[in-house]
Amino acid sequence: MSKVTVIGAGNVGATCANAIAHLNCVSDIVLIDIKEGLSEGKAIDMMQTAKLYGFDTRIKGVTNDYAATADSDVVIITSGIPRKPGMTREELIGVNAGIVNSVVKNALQYSPNAVFMIIANPMDTMTYLTYKTSGLPKNKVIGMGGQLDSSRFTYYLSQALGAAPSDVEGIVIGGHGDTTMIPLISKATYKSQPVTKLLAKEAADKVVADTMVGGATITGLLGTSAWYGPGAAAATMVKSIILDQKKIFPCCVALEGEFGKSDICIGVPAVLGKNGVEKVVEIELTADEKAAFDKSAEAVSKTNKVLKDMNLVK
Ligand code: APR
Repeated sequence: MSKVTVIGAGNVGATCANAIAHLNCVSDIVLIDIKEGLSEGKAIDMMQTAKLYGFDTRIKGVTNDYAATADSDVVIITSGIPRKPGMTREELIGVNAGIVNSVVKNALQYSPNAVFMIIANPMDTMTYLTYKTSGLPKNKVIGMGGQLDSSRFTYYLSQALGAAPSDVEGIVIGGHGDTTMIPLISKATYKSQPVTKLLAKEAADKVVADTMVGGATITGLLGTSAWYGPGAAAATMVKSIILDQKKIFPCCVALEGEFGKSDICIGVPAVLGKNGVEKVVEIELTADEKAAFDKSAEAVSKTNKVLKDMNLVK
């Protein structure tokens, strides 16, 4: 038996549960929210697609009933307020820190061995908060951000190349912020060909710039933050953990010396398996990428300092 809890049944949480069910890799999903009836209604709606899509995952919705989440293998935190147009992810810190702290505490009581995956924004800082306050080992706390940003990167690359997104490889490291993420254009490929050989510099620069504001572009159009991308990105990571696939994902993890950083949670490539983060993969960075990573880490640490100023983290 395998079980995943998704906390928050809003746009991202519900889509996350739906995407995981479609991968048919988990026996049970519990969707939990504070809004009476929301999780229950969405869970029933999704279950009524099981026959149509052919998945066997059971999805149950509950209101505030953490006992129902007991013995989860993965707990996903989507509870929190989303961005509005013009807002940065960092502006959500005050409200979301309180929510994340309380739901992690509740879920931990019933699933002390779970891997916790943080989606609520500002994601790097919420991951750091969870790592510092939960008592969980560093392999059990993962932030979903890099996988989503990388998927957006390959989307923009595919548009520029006129290629199928599945034929394009590219990863984004660093913070999950409009100015902190680092799409690694030097390492992106189109069926083994470096994209830098196929795209003019201006076109490549535009792909990088569009990727960095990929989330804000959608927020500007919808009036709230995206959900299909975040839900699908989290689901691919959950599958690797549940099935112990040990695939590499760019995601937010606690560093202790890797990439020359410590006391920070930030996006780097990591192997995800049954223990959560199995290994951080220290890919080689160019001098420019290294400088960008240092700058990104500085900005993420600055946002983390707000938690210290609020006395939420020592
Ligand atoms: N416990 C459980 N659920 C909660 C709690 C709580 N303490 N506080 C809020 N929620 C729920 C809300 O009731 C709501 O249903 O979290 C849900 C959030 O859903 P949305 O408002 O639709 O937000 P969403 O778009 O899903 O974004 C959630 O993910 O990508 C990030 O920036 C985004 O931080 C935001 C988070």
